[in-house]
Amino acid sequence: MHFSTRQVHAGFEPEGPYRPRATPIHLTAGFVFDDFEQGHERFAGTDDGFSYSRVGNPTSAAAERRIADLESGRGALLVGSGQAAVATTILALVSAGDHVLASGSLYEGTRELLRDDLARLGVETTFVRDHTDPAAWAAGIRPETKVLFAESIPNPKNDVLDIATVAEVAHRHGRPLVVDNTLGTPYLVRPLEHGADIVVHSASKFLAGHGTVLGGVIVDGGRFPWHDTGGRYPQLTAHRGVDGRTLVERSGAVAFLEHARRVAMRFGPVPSPINAFLILQGIETLSLRVARQSATALRLAQWLERHPSVESVDYSGLPSSPHHALARRYLPHGQGAVFAVTVRGGRDAARTFTDSLRLFTRMTHLGDTRSLVLHPATTTHVLRDEAELADAGIGPGLLRLSIGLEEPDDLIADLDQALATATAADLLQRAGLT
Ligand SMILES: Cc1ncc(COP(=O)(O)O)c(C=O)c1O
Repeated sequence: MHFSTRQVHAGFEPEGPYRPRATPIHLTAGFVFDDFEQGHERFAGTDDGFSYSRVGNPTSAAAERRIADLESGRGALLVGSGQAAVATTILALVSAGDHVLASGSLYEGTRELLRDDLARLGVETTFVRDHTDPAAWAAGIRPETKVLFAESIPNPKNDVLDIATVAEVAHRHGRPLVVDNTLGTPYLVRPLEHGADIVVHSASKFLAGHGTVLGGVIVDGGRFPWHDTGGRYPQLTAHRGVDGRTLVERSGAVAFLEHARRVAMRFGPVPSPINAFLILQGIETLSLRVARQSATALRLAQWLERHPSVESVDYSGLPSSPHHALARRYLPHGQGAVFAVTVRGGRDAARTFTDSLRLFTRMTHLGDTRSLVLHPATTTHVLRDEAELADAGIGPGLLRLSIGLEEPDDLIADLDQALATATAADLLQRAGLT
């Protein structure tokens, strides 16, 4: 069936004596064992019923089935945040002494997790400076590299990933490619269909979609040949469970997902069933929201690009973007709702512009129903020095916009008055009048 049908139906059938149409919120710590034997079987994994909500919950499971369906995956795991999804995925793949090869264009939280926290655990990461260069990916792979990691639409520069090309490099070397598809959303792009092996999301963003809850999800494409990697992933192919089988023998295509489920169970980043319900509810309108938000983003980006107070706009939907060709290939239904605009006049102009906005909300988040504005250099990227900021293309006048569901004309009017105020302040300053 089509995407819009699956986003309201996939993964849940009304059941039980009352047959509720909406997915019930199973707010319970644990689930009753019918008898002694069933308790044992749930723990041994020979009975796949629920036991304890840290291990699995029916509301979360419904969200997992729906997201796996929309991403063209074999299965999914819901966790407490996007960061939990990224951390759990990496932790499930690496051991001390291993290496991660990641795109240099990443969400700062992920970059810091890899650079600082995983490094402390003995896992080194190399960041590929130009992720559009397949030779750079190939050159970065070492014997101890366990995973390649990138984002489908990095922010704020909108430097779209060539998923198929990076997947080809990864597979040529027998490594899986993990793609963070938070900004792409399965409505705009499904990385698993282009060769990625695992997809992660911050469900807090477009999936939940209303700026209310946090959540994360890991989707397993179920195609990576773990059994055929010369023992590189012993957690999947060598360690035996209570039934004497390895995860690959027991779970086949979804062996990685089952392992990630255990890692999450032990580290404990559990989603609340209430959050799982709100994520499911958000997903019911995903295509409607994302199509509208992308269309509005394109209109605003076009308008901003022509504005005399604007230095540049980073949006892959614009023909002027160096990433437009990749956007046409991977994002034909819309290029997403997050982009950057650089106002003339540097940091002072960015400050006046930001503070003059009345409809845009000053907030660190993405994919809300409301439009948001943020100054990366002084917020998300505040730990970077000048050289690192320049390297990432984040100038002092650059602002990140996440476009919501407001009427486009109202958003343009707000941007217009804020740009006028910023420009007037800049002129006064230059004339020495302030
Ligand atoms: C691309 C991307 N991945 C992961 C995350 C982390 O998600 P969360 O805030 O849900 O932990 C974010 C958050 O901004 C993000 O933008």
